[in-house]
Amino acid sequence: MKPRVLVARAVFPDIVERLRSHFVVHDNPGDDAWSQPELIARLQGHAGVLVAGTERIDAALLAACPTLRAVCSMAVGYNNIDLPACTAAGVLVSNAPDVLTETTADFGFALMMATARRITESEHFLRAGRWTHWSYDLFAGADVHGATLGVLGMGRIGQAIARRGALGFGMPVLYHNRSRLDAAIEQQLGASWVGKDQLLQRADHLVIVVPYSPASHHLVGAAELALMKPTATLTNIARGGVVDDAALAVALRERRIAAAGLDVFEGEPAVHPGLLGVPNVVLTPHIASASLPTRRAMAELAARNLMAVLGQGADAGRPPTALNPEVLPLRA
Ligand code: DGY
Repeated sequence: MKPRVLVARAVFPDIVERLRSHFVVHDNPGDDAWSQPELIARLQGHAGVLVAGTERIDAALLAACPTLRAVCSMAVGYNNIDLPACTAAGVLVSNAPDVLTETTADFGFALMMATARRITESEHFLRAGRWTHWSYDLFAGADVHGATLGVLGMGRIGQAIARRGALGFGMPVLYHNRSRLDAAIEQQLGASWVGKDQLLQRADHLVIVVPYSPASHHLVGAAELALMKPTATLTNIARGGVVDDAALAVALRERRIAAAGLDVFEGEPAVHPGLLGVPNVVLTPHIASASLPTRRAMAELAARNLMAVLGQGADAGRPPTALNPEVLPLRA
């Protein structure tokens, strides 16, 4: 009998069809928002689940779903999955690194530029019919070329953003990360490691790309914002919760920093009302990886992992991007 798998979020129909040739598949073509009890109920008797960065896979769910063997996410960030609990339960977890790096870096850079050059704020002004004449300071923002780029979190995406800034825009790059890059990579990227306070004080444009964990909760709050230049911008494409959105709304309202670009929010899809009420912020609905080819590659990788973990297809037994390969081979 074919194993049963659940595809918890709507994904490309042809990928779901491919899974059907290996598994009995239950899916969510309407992309309905399932509550946690509903997700648990739907997982009963299933060996694997394909998730995005949105489904909470925790110890309680694992205890309630004893047949589960594989949790394969199409996101790179996996703060929604309790990895140690999965490992303890013998459940293989995979994510989707690499395939979204360049697309997400493109978006981070675009959001930073839109923020510095006040693109959405000026478009709203134009659409509202308020443009009556040219003036020397109409939506005059900050330069990007030659300005100091600060990258908080220097993983794959941070490095791709640094490369764009250094090579494309002549930006001196400062970064802060728990571990320093090899000197050769620093040299290639033209990037220098600095302490977090230095980064906040010296960056003209700060881009946050650090994964969310309890340790990075409110990594940038009121105290950190107070260190930034009043002309600086902050762009967050990491995860909601890394920035204290309430403190950021105050800093933007009081012009303690010039502007922010945000793709992720604490408690999203809700957005802090203080952010909705200020003009100097560019807001996007968690779409940094959303180019069609990249979303397809992310879903393909999750499906490939699911098939591999459950012994199907060319990679059977060898999931390409397992986060806890030590659980292999799976318990019966
Ligand atoms: C990721 O892959 O982590 C992106 O944020 C999409 O969820």
